[in-house]
Amino acid sequence: MLTVVATRSATPHVRALTAADEVQARAAHGRLAADGVEFCLGLDGTESWAAWLDRTERLRMGGSVPPWVPETFVGAFVGPTLVGRLSVRHRLNEELALVGGHIGYVVLPEHRRRGYAGVMMREALRIAREVGLDRVLVTCSDDNHASVRVIETAGGVLEDVVTHPVSGEPKRRYWIALDAPVP
Ligand SMILES: CC(C)(COP(=O)(O)OP(=O)(O)OC[C@H]1O[C@@H](n2cnc3c(N)ncnc32)[C@H](O)[C@@H]1OP(=O)(O)O)[C@@H](O)C(=O)NCCC(=O)NCCS
Repeated sequence: MLTVVATRSATPHVRALTAADEVQARAAHGRLAADGVEFCLGLDGTESWAAWLDRTERLRMGGSVPPWVPETFVGAFVGPTLVGRLSVRHRLNEELALVGGHIGYVVLPEHRRRGYAGVMMREALRIAREVGLDRVLVTCSDDNHASVRVIETAGGVLEDVVTHPVSGEPKRRYWIALDAPVP
């Protein structure tokens, strides 16, 4: 007799990256660079991990580290495994107000399609509330079907579709109100 056992992916939890995460985070950063996606925001080849962690923590605490606005950056983990990252900007500058938005998230390719991004979006909205936001702007490429799904499931209301000033690609801009309970 064939027994079918349904498996459920574990739920990721989010936390700040630490010194112990350097190997996993740098590997993720290198792997996604080929897709044009930045994993560790602002990390370049010359910066030490300690310096990157320090800058990231200063941004989380609301410190201004130009050109970045204050931002909370966390890794998403399933057990000890880094599966993604998310960032929540505490406020918008001119560029973010047009195409970047408050929230950015990435799931590593080998961990996609397991519902992780939906969970991470809920965590992002929790963080956004904690830093005092009452609504967030979330943007994505018009053809990023997974991200559209994540944003709309989280209650995103489409404001408009704008043209990215550099790439020229159409970008969807959604607002998510934070006064309602997270779905
Ligand atoms: C967008 C991204 C975060 C989605 O991560 P994920 O963990 O695979 O997403 P989930 O498994 O939570 O899926 C969310 C929804 O999108 C759907 N989906 C996932 N991948 C999809 C795809 N390639 N095409 C169409 N739908 C897709 C899922 O079925 C799910 O829909 P459901 O809610 O109806 O079940 C991931 O693809 C990624 O990191 N992409 C590169 C970076 C990026 O685009 N970030 C977002 C910037 S706005």
